[in-house]
Amino acid sequence: MGNKLFAIKSVDSLQADAHHGGGLKRALGAFDLVMLGIGAIIGTGIFVLTGQAAAANAGPAVCLSFIAAGVASAFAGLCYSEMASMIPVAGSAYTYAYATMGELVAWIIGWDLILEYLVGASAVSVGWSGYVTEFLKHMGYELPKTLTSAPYLWDEAGQHFYRSPDLAIINLPAVLITLFVTAILVVGVKESARFNAIIVVVKTIVVLAFIVCAYPFINPENWHPFIPENTGTFGQYGISGIFRGAATVFFAYIGFDAVSTAAQETKNPQRDLPIGILGSLTVCTVLYIAVSLILTGVVHYSQLGVPHPIAIGIKATGIGWLETAVEIGAIAGLSSVMVVMMMGQPRVFFSMAQDGLFPQFAAKVHPKFGTPWVTTIITGCICAVAGGLLPIGILAELCSIGTLFAFVLVCLGVMILRIKRPDIKRGFSVPGGTYFVPLMGVLFSGGLMGFATIASLWRLGLWMVLGLALYWAYGAKHSKLQAQIREGRYNPDGPVEDGVSPSGEL
Ligand code: ALA
Repeated sequence: MGNKLFAIKSVDSLQADAHHGGGLKRALGAFDLVMLGIGAIIGTGIFVLTGQAAAANAGPAVCLSFIAAGVASAFAGLCYSEMASMIPVAGSAYTYAYATMGELVAWIIGWDLILEYLVGASAVSVGWSGYVTEFLKHMGYELPKTLTSAPYLWDEAGQHFYRSPDLAIINLPAVLITLFVTAILVVGVKESARFNAIIVVVKTIVVLAFIVCAYPFINPENWHPFIPENTGTFGQYGISGIFRGAATVFFAYIGFDAVSTAAQETKNPQRDLPIGILGSLTVCTVLYIAVSLILTGVVHYSQLGVPHPIAIGIKATGIGWLETAVEIGAIAGLSSVMVVMMMGQPRVFFSMAQDGLFPQFAAKVHPKFGTPWVTTIITGCICAVAGGLLPIGILAELCSIGTLFAFVLVCLGVMILRIKRPDIKRGFSVPGGTYFVPLMGVLFSGGLMGFATIASLWRLGLWMVLGLALYWAYGAKHSKLQAQIREGRYNPDGPVEDGVSPSGEL
């Protein structure tokens, strides 16, 4: 039984799958992918978490936290690029794991990606709701708290959920934006990419405007001391604070890997996927370092622990119009993050359904729009419920830990494939040989997991146990690969179109 669970799909058959595309339209080019990446990356992280990490953990050295999280993401990004250029099919890390570590690990990673994309999108929808509520308040329309906040909150000390003291009913704006994005994604990926590109331009201009306008107001005094002395508590300033801060702002980088889930809709995946992933990551890293340096230069870090730290920075400059512009940019930015995350999730479900690990109705492609509409709607509904009921902190934490876990597995996968199948054509290869980049990826992502709270590690564990139970109950019985093994059609020397190759023999 153990061997069967580690049976793998051959890369050759995946490349054949990629060739015919599974019915999805190939509409995206390199530029679309870079835009898609930036669309997924710049969001809650830079607009909200920068200030909180500066105030609570790193001080002005939050820019070093951004560098550390960026380095972890870059190593993982390089590994994603190699995988995506070699196995350019929808499904992202899930598919890569199927080809390298077998079905069980693939299921684990596919299940884990729900935390990244679906839970991540819910977290961002809650952030979106916060910015919209604040923006409307400035415009003179105050929405009731009962309809704009989570009815259930998390008590970190007591480790339990409790009813919100405001007796909130639902976070309605979070639900509405989720349903709106879902509708757009059902209509079509090209339309979605266009919508996304417009928003990306808006939010990039807003971030650049902040950098340019706030730069002259830097008071170098605010940077002293650059690394505030540790208070005696792990993670409160000092070196440990920089890394705890990195674990927080890591959320800001999540999203570039969603580019790889659009592989089957990309015209020239071998060339365009690495450009999309590394290009968007580079642009965002530069912007993040600049924003965090300028923000902590304009305002003392101790004042930045608020939900709208960038707005505090702008207030200090006295440029009134920029505040509204940033609010609009943040709203637009968070919307585009949601588009990409909610575009990634259905494609992972789609791949899992194609392999028989989810029911077949989930693998349907819309006859007119060419999109995986069933999984898009399922994603939208679950995401709306989570965003409507839960607080942002718990959703963002779950998303980060799930993503780091996926990064570790993808980096390991690159190493395994390099060793087992050095012969496969790679459109892009990580520099530095078989071990350096993947091992650094494992070390950095695994290391950041070590800075997560114990509660979020527990949640990750519980989620995985639930996933494994589902796999035994459904996936293992309906898996196409397992069926081939049971029916004796799993032939190591057979044609590749069965999509299966023997355990341990890629
Ligand atoms: N990187 C995305 C954000 O910061 C998830 O919102």
